[in-house]
Amino acid sequence: MSLNIVRNDITKMKVDAIVNAANSSLLGGGGVDGAIHNAAGPGLLEECRTIGGCPAGEARITKGYDLPAKFVIHTVGPVWNGGNSGEEELLRKAYRSSLELAVENGIESIAFPIISGGAYGYPKREAIDIAMSEFRTFLEDHDIAITLVLYDRDSYLTGLDLRSRIQAFIDDNYVDEHFVARSSAERFSGMYRSAPPAGHMPAAKSGPAPKYSRKKRENLFGRILPKRSEEADEELKEERYIDRSNEPLKSITVDGMYSLSDLESRLREVDESFSQMLIRKIDEKGITDSECYKRANIDRKHFSKIKNDPAYKPRKQTALAFAVALELPLAETEELLRKAGFALSHSSKSDIIVEYFIRQHTYDIFTINEALFEFDQPLLGT
Ligand code: APR
Repeated sequence: MSLNIVRNDITKMKVDAIVNAANSSLLGGGGVDGAIHNAAGPGLLEECRTIGGCPAGEARITKGYDLPAKFVIHTVGPVWNGGNSGEEELLRKAYRSSLELAVENGIESIAFPIISGGAYGYPKREAIDIAMSEFRTFLEDHDIAITLVLYDRDSYLTGLDLRSRIQAFIDDNYVDEHFVARSSAERFSGMYRSAPPAGHMPAAKSGPAPKYSRKKRENLFGRILPKRSEEADEELKEERYIDRSNEPLKSITVDGMYSLSDLESRLREVDESFSQMLIRKIDEKGITDSECYKRANIDRKHFSKIKNDPAYKPRKQTALAFAVALELPLAETEELLRKAGFALSHSSKSDIIVEYFIRQHTYDIFTINEALFEFDQPLLGT
């Protein structure tokens, strides 16, 4: 199961079925109805003629003919009449009938336009909210990939207020990655006439190992190690290194900075893989696997691949989707990302938008995805 939003012409969608916002005659019209009939060819109209129409709120299925989609599900939305003539219930029924008809026909992927969002005059924001809420209800009990296809450039997804709040957060936090590269090049400028060639780090100096200052002896966990013994310092002074990496961990000395068990448990934490941490957090949250992957907008097959492979490395959007599903605070989100080899970056608008919602404790992935879509960023989950 998954729920995506794309900007596209629905006639181009390579899915099992596309949904047509038809009128009750099913004999074609303008808008998306006209576009689908044009792309499908005359066979579609011939088959529609045999159906004998469709009442508002219901759905009928035909083949897809020349469309990339195998089927077309024709549904008829309500004409907007101010909102007090049962329009909402009819619109919900149109989505539900289409989805039920799809599942009855073994359809596994389906794309919808915004039913009644054009000529029938339904206010687009409300029409989208109704569509999204019907999709989410249906996905609680069904396994189907749903895509909402937006066609025109209107920005009607996130409400204006939310959009401006997110934009302000981006403005406050976004660091242009070119600026970052330029400033680090300036930092290296003493070594290079111009910025270091892309990807080229200053060559490690050859010769005896560098003198290590106390600061440099920071350990894995960012703490200054206690002063080394005189003998160890002698080694350092002579700059002679004895490779101790294969020696068993000794309990780290003095003033109880941390005991061996503390270090071992911290090292175990470092060793915990992404999928091990994911499973641990699911247990700690007391939710089921399916609750987790549905909230993450991840399909079941993908989840079981992650769960069964301790070495699995997910995409960043997948890792973030699970952090949202588990409602992790920022620090734990960063920790889960690190396990997958990523970090939140202020030179990524997508990361900043996700960080905005985490700081707001808003963990609804569909709301976050609408915002990501609004800012042309990749969505979370599959
Ligand atoms: N792909 C995806 N979406 C599209 C496309 C397309 N090619 N063309 C239009 N849309 C969008 C519109 O931007 C709108 O958001 O589909 C949504 C529904 O608009 P309409 O097609 O006008 O459908 P609707 O509002 O339900 O009115 C249905 O219009 O076309 C006639 O015969 C149809 O009488 C029926 C009425």
